[in-house]
Amino acid sequence: NIYPVILCGGSGTRLWPMSRGGYPKQYLKLTGDNTLVQQTALRLRGIDDIAAPIIVTNNEQRFLVAEQMRQVGVTPSSIVLEPVGRDTAPAIAIAALLAMQASPDALLLILPSDHVILHEATFIKIVEAAARIAKDNHLVTFGIDPTEPHTGYGYIRSGAPLTDGSQAFAVDAFVEKPNAQTAQRFLDDGGYYWNSGMFMLKASVYMDELRRYEPEIARQAALSLQDEARDHDFLRLGADAFSACPKVSVDYAVMERTEHAAVIAAADLGWNDIGSWTALADLAELDAESNALLGDVLAEETTNSYVRAEHRMVAAIGLDNIVIVETADAVLVARRDKSQEVKRIVERLNASG
Ligand code: GDD
Ligand code: MG
Repeated sequence: NIYPVILCGGSGTRLWPMSRGGYPKQYLKLTGDNTLVQQTALRLRGIDDIAAPIIVTNNEQRFLVAEQMRQVGVTPSSIVLEPVGRDTAPAIAIAALLAMQASPDALLLILPSDHVILHEATFIKIVEAAARIAKDNHLVTFGIDPTEPHTGYGYIRSGAPLTDGSQAFAVDAFVEKPNAQTAQRFLDDGGYYWNSGMFMLKASVYMDELRRYEPEIARQAALSLQDEARDHDFLRLGADAFSACPKVSVDYAVMERTEHAAVIAAADLGWNDIGSWTALADLAELDAESNALLGDVLAEETTNSYVRAEHRMVAAIGLDNIVIVETADAVLVARRDKSQEVKRIVERLNASG
């Protein structure tokens, strides 16, 4: 049985002004009719032997997640509430312990909720292949072909094929978020994948690795579950124990150190982590002038632009290569190739409180 684990406790601000600290991008309808977290849950339909998802989030986002799951008819097996964010290694530990209560051999499919996968049929095939590999006690990563020396991703150097003819390889090295120089070297050398952030692994194998490399997380996570309290569909963790977990992501805690990692080539997923409005503009459906005009937008002599109106009408004249995102209380106007610099605005806003 595969137990999907949806991680959605992070806070993203790269798509400001739509995503905010308390309303990160996984809850937005960025592509299509469903939000990213809804798409994450819905793309699991069609996988054999899959259980209801375990959702791990925090107190502030609990109603948002519960309501968004209800809207698409997904009933999670639990919605785990972290008292504080401790990054992904502790979040996955909780899910692993819960799944092992149900089945000692449980496989976990770890799913971030902050990216798009365009090709669902391919996703299902790759997940099923990953499950077979994870049954042999491998911690399986999903490798994306890198296109630029991005410093926000993990890099995976693939080694020998696991079995002949398969698209799965042993992992020679896993380097989380290298600096720009190192990332460039990896691209020049070749043989590297980006880590997609999804993993398939046996819950028990994950806990073994955690006990070895981050024993305090393994210990405190188990204690926080002994102290859990159920409240409707929510599972609240014991606050003292969970807060005592070191704050580390699964990438640093386990994937960089384990000797049991494998990577499965996942080139055809149509994976995109939509890290900026530019990335979203690249995914959008374009009109004859290569514009994506979303909402109440009127444009004249405008080309190659992404204009999104959430609350008011937006009119554009004579624009080329511009991103405009209008929301109730803030408007972003940026050159299309500069939209990732929105982080500078967010930093200034945070600094000024
Ligand atoms: N429950 C919970 N608690 N979820 C969390 C927490 C937490 O404390 N922190 C982050 N998450 C969720 C986020 O909402 C997201 O869906 C997922 O876990 C991954 O966290 P990110 O913070 O977005 O990680 P990242 O993007 O910097 O890096 C990861 O993803 C990259 C691909 O997008 C790594 O796995 C990289 O190696 C990978 O390349
Ligand atoms: Mg991310």
